[in-house]
Amino acid sequence: MKTTSINSRRRTPAGAGPPLRDGTLTDQLRRRLVGQPAAIDAIVPYVQMFMAGLSPTGRPAGVFLLLGPSGTGKTRTVEALAAVLHGSEKNVLKIDCGEYQMDHEVAKLIGAPPGYLGHRETQPLLTQFRLSSVASERTPLTVVLFDEVEKAAPSLNRLLLGVLDKGALRLGDNTSVTFENSLIFMTSNLGASAMMKELGAGFGFAKGDLSDTGRADRSRKLAAIAGNAVRRSFAPEFINRLDATVTYEPLTREALDQILDLQLAELDAHLSSRLGSDRFTFEVCPEARTYLLARGISENFGARELKRTIHKQVLQPLAGFLLAGRIRSASHVRIALNESGDSLSFTQRLYDPAA
Ligand SMILES: Nc1ncnc2c1ncn2[C@@H]1O[C@H](COP(=O)(O)OP(=O)(O)OP(=O)(O)O)[C@@H](O)[C@H]1O
Ligand SMILES: [Mg+2]
Repeated sequence: MKTTSINSRRRTPAGAGPPLRDGTLTDQLRRRLVGQPAAIDAIVPYVQMFMAGLSPTGRPAGVFLLLGPSGTGKTRTVEALAAVLHGSEKNVLKIDCGEYQMDHEVAKLIGAPPGYLGHRETQPLLTQFRLSSVASERTPLTVVLFDEVEKAAPSLNRLLLGVLDKGALRLGDNTSVTFENSLIFMTSNLGASAMMKELGAGFGFAKGDLSDTGRADRSRKLAAIAGNAVRRSFAPEFINRLDATVTYEPLTREALDQILDLQLAELDAHLSSRLGSDRFTFEVCPEARTYLLARGISENFGARELKRTIHKQVLQPLAGFLLAGRIRSASHVRIALNESGDSLSFTQRLYDPAA
């Protein structure tokens, strides 16, 4: 009998668009999400299962709880997945559970039943139409995010439990929304402060050079802290319906460096798309990078401020120079640290057309 190895054969499953075509899904996610391989490893099999048409019916295509310190990439993961699946990180149906801390607010999500006061005014936010609007022609697989799930009112928790259990949600007007084509993500900061205590001062920095065993040990401890916090806060029937719980790692110096590169590359792409042929290029010197990192990252908020810092320290001055006619198109701007060390300097070099 002739046997063929299928390990390396690439399949083009029904409905599988670009995610599997240009490089693997894992590679594409790694390009957008730095230093969190466990998250990618947990999610990818569920996407592949869906793409292969093998997801179970009567429940969502995948249910994930993302835990860990602030600014380490939990929300970024969900956005990155949407970008890979649909071409835009905006293709996420996001429910901020912090906005639904009181039971009566949950009616905004599902709408009030007919006959109830305010029935006409309360159009549900969580409709099949809204869910379909975050799918794309590439794939019907949608990404749904319940952010800060620990803040949800008890009635939202009950609603969520129904969604996780049956993959469906009944609205106030008795229609229902199906989540069978959805990956459901829930993020939470549960256990994050205890994790920070465990990590001690210098989160994200000196720890970058830990040995592999040191890192594995730390990951185990963080996962145990997160697990305890989850068991204290969520009912067992909720925990039983999760496909995976991922505990995010604090970002190492190396990861933060890569995130800076990623964000500078995004800025470059932004200049290209906005300025077209009038665009200019730029480079950031090592001291200027250190300056941006020092301002953009923190023990308590991870890489959360990095984008804002780049906006304020790089994009805004560049916009000012452009308006003042001080940057010519097709030039190259070098961004360095001032001698005083407290601000950035910008120098322009014109490309020599003869060169
Ligand atoms: N692992 C990462 N890879 C790439 N970028 C990241 C990563 N972590 C953080 N960032 C950057 O920092 C910003 C904030 O991260 P994100 O919103 O994912 O934090 P979070 O873990 O959801 O935090 P919180 O618990 O406070 O909601 C992102 O928009 C992204 O620009
Ligand atoms: Mg978040």
